[in-house]
Amino acid sequence: MKAVAVIPHKSGSVHLAALAKPNVEDIPNGRGVLVKVLRVGVDGTDKEINAAEYGEAPPGESFLVLGHESFGRVEAVGPGVTELRPGDHVVATVRRPGTSLYDRIGLSDMTTDDVYYERGINLRHGFLTEHYVDDADFIVKVPRMLKEVGVLLEPLTVVEKGLHQAFEIQRRMRIWRPRKAAVLGAGTIGLLATLALRLRGLQVTTFAKYPKPDLNSDLIESLGAGYIATEVRPLLEAAKGDGPYDIVFEATGYSPIVFESMRILGKNGVLVLASVTGGDRMVQVPADKINLEFVLGNKVMVGTVNANRGHFEMGVADMAQAEAEYPGWLKRLLTHPVRGLENYADLFRHLTSGQGVIKVFCEVAEL
Ligand code: BGC
Ligand code: ZN
Repeated sequence: MKAVAVIPHKSGSVHLAALAKPNVEDIPNGRGVLVKVLRVGVDGTDKEINAAEYGEAPPGESFLVLGHESFGRVEAVGPGVTELRPGDHVVATVRRPGTSLYDRIGLSDMTTDDVYYERGINLRHGFLTEHYVDDADFIVKVPRMLKEVGVLLEPLTVVEKGLHQAFEIQRRMRIWRPRKAAVLGAGTIGLLATLALRLRGLQVTTFAKYPKPDLNSDLIESLGAGYIATEVRPLLEAAKGDGPYDIVFEATGYSPIVFESMRILGKNGVLVLASVTGGDRMVQVPADKINLEFVLGNKVMVGTVNANRGHFEMGVADMAQAEAEYPGWLKRLLTHPVRGLENYADLFRHLTSGQGVIKVFCEVAEL
């Protein structure tokens, strides 16, 4: 089978590799699920792996197959699988368990191990290939009515986990009724965070760099959320009238904005940080002010990465609700399809082409 792979530690090494087709029997205890890959999304993570910023091959192998945002159809299941059958549409989770206590209770997204295993990212092959096999524990069923947009589930789970963390933490309040939220960033994650917060009935303002109108601002406004371009109105200034916010979801990929986000958060509020920032940027901040406001306002800041099976299930429910409340909205995020694994170079070309690009994905096979 064809696969899109990189040679770890070698920048720009993305290439077409050959893999043996896997079997249901490759997974112990009869729990194997063989999936035909239909679509795979790519994002900044894939770009950074191809730039050799991180990413390791599975032990003993020289390349790493990319792709962690999958969507596929079950072809065969082992005798121990009762929850899935051939023909079902599915998405696989990304991280596989390590050894910590959290890994052992199904929360590998909360691992305390230094080494983590992520399909398409670290030490495990990804899904940019024709078939994969995995344990049914890591495969989530997606209703047929969502097949067109199912490739957006994995990115949505990043949002689901972040919001779930926020609500779990806020149980400290006994009763918490968030009304206003700010989302920072209007890329795929910022858009999906705006959607998830609107589905939960919050008033949302999304802050992004570019002035409207563009596709991103249209998408935000069609959810009934506000859109503010920070090039036109800087965050702190805009938030003076519009804020403060009960929830702030940071998804810009630009770390200095974290310290400004801390200042637009309301009393008892929660700030969710979801940007993976690989650089070593330095900034000066008004430390006394930020600290004082956080202390006197009982505020919380939480980092969030990856997602477990539960978050994938929450994502499926939100996608179904989104199709009911905002029909056709999710599909508009699928801006850049690339047909066929052999055209992998186009995936990377679109990823770097800037404005107008929301989700770049490979159509590996017909839906
Ligand atoms: C993926 C996550 C992963 C993270 C860090 C993201 O792009 O969506 O599942 O945990 O990268 O590797
Ligand atoms: Zn991703």
